[in-house]
Amino acid sequence: MDVPWWKTAVTYQIYPRSFCDTGCGRDQSAEGVGDLEGVIRHLDHLLWLGVDVIWLSPFFPSPMNDFGYDVSDYCGVDPLFGDLGTFDRLVAESHRRGIRVVIDWVPNHTSIDHPWFAASRSSRQDPKRDWYVWRDPAPGGGPPNNWIESLTMGPAWTLDAATGQYYLHCFLPTQPDLNWSNAEVVAAMHDTLRFWLERGVDGFRMDVVHLIGKDPDLPDDPEVVAGLPHVVLNDRPETHAHLRSIRRLLDESGERVSIGEVYLLDPAQVVEYYGRDDELHLCFNFAPLHARWNATAWRHQIEQSEAALGPVAAWPTWVLSNHDNPRHRTRYGGSEARARAAAVLLLTLRGAPFLYAGEELGLLDAEIGDDQHRDPGGRDGCRAPIPWDGTPTHGWTDATPWLPWPPEAERRNVANLREDPTSILHLYRDAIALRRATPSLQLGDLSLVDSPDGVVAYRRTLGLDSVVIAVNFTDSTVDLLGYPNLFDGRLMLSSIHPTAERALTHLDADEAAIIAPFEVAP
Ligand code: GLC
Repeated sequence: MDVPWWKTAVTYQIYPRSFCDTGCGRDQSAEGVGDLEGVIRHLDHLLWLGVDVIWLSPFFPSPMNDFGYDVSDYCGVDPLFGDLGTFDRLVAESHRRGIRVVIDWVPNHTSIDHPWFAASRSSRQDPKRDWYVWRDPAPGGGPPNNWIESLTMGPAWTLDAATGQYYLHCFLPTQPDLNWSNAEVVAAMHDTLRFWLERGVDGFRMDVVHLIGKDPDLPDDPEVVAGLPHVVLNDRPETHAHLRSIRRLLDESGERVSIGEVYLLDPAQVVEYYGRDDELHLCFNFAPLHARWNATAWRHQIEQSEAALGPVAAWPTWVLSNHDNPRHRTRYGGSEARARAAAVLLLTLRGAPFLYAGEELGLLDAEIGDDQHRDPGGRDGCRAPIPWDGTPTHGWTDATPWLPWPPEAERRNVANLREDPTSILHLYRDAIALRRATPSLQLGDLSLVDSPDGVVAYRRTLGLDSVVIAVNFTDSTVDLLGYPNLFDGRLMLSSIHPTAERALTHLDADEAAIIAPFEVAP
């Protein structure tokens, strides 16, 4: 059976601003911002780590009001990050190492600086007026409906005084929503996909892609949810038609992947965006990212994902951290032991795992001083620069980086953790390698197995290959003697004990273990 590459891939998200500044991009000010050359420089490290795919957050020309998620040219590279030549080299160098490249695609909105929007707002008669969502004020004045934008949680509409109409923006006022019910918009956006497919990218992470189809009547959001941003509520049939044509376009280019940021919090809603294997290949499932670190919450997440996706054979995804949320080590209270157990969990669940650069170092969010805030959505802490070594500039140029370093950077950096075989970085590498060598971890079914209170345990099975994973979510030692599924086996990997040479009579506090059972239980 031919397994599509994206099913078994471990993807590593790079937020280019924060990855590594080599000085090859054209920094706007004296501050250090990462660049594409910085990604190329560290590809060998990513190869050593064992990831299959890199996903690059936006590097397109942008005024950076939302740090690149406000695109002013879909087919270019912002000089901050380099140029198209650097990008082509990045793709070639990645492919040479067997690493695939996925890029971000931001279809719901452009920057206010995009020439399309400049034309659209220039007059009501402009041919591009209908490329965005314009409406007259409500009777008596004010925004046309009650939709709320995400990020500052204000109204999702801004009045353009010159033309007397409001434009829709589900994010910042500087991010006007495109009108996907206009066929010219669809064609233009399809062209932007083709542009990058021809440059050799392996796929796209599609930003809030469930938001592109809108109810043409733009009705108020229901009163009960009226305080929520519209992005988490928009679930429309129009979007599915768009996704089917996007999928056809991708399929024409061979094995490329679409990964949708479908920001709906019910997995039963999210699964609809896989279509009948004719829409998105993968959808992010964010409910687990918001789950607390405890066994009941995680058992529920696993059951919910299996129940929603299993019956329709949709392939799950797992993500604990990204550029929009506090890092999971921070969210889980700061313990490195928990971050290590979380790594084993993430890399052994059924589905495609997504790592966020820096989690393999066990990074915590940076402390952001009052005068250091940059993001209008308050997401700076998880976007701190990656420390590559223990020197004062941590492997960046000597320009002060755009955000402060994360805590412990003098010790918790790539060079230092690579030297230490007991480090969390080595744990990630070992878990990724074990995953690659173990068919059941890559593709096997998942079933929960009986386990002590505070522990979640599951079996992954593919044919005769079977492993059991047990994660202790508590801060005390748990006895396994009464649990033959867990106890009767060989310890393949422990999140705490690097050599894993011990009898498996118990799990330590916050320990996760991968166990090869002596015999496959029914
Ligand atoms: C997505 C991105 C986020 C961005 C928003 C608007 O949620 O992950 O960073 O602010 O879309 O593009």
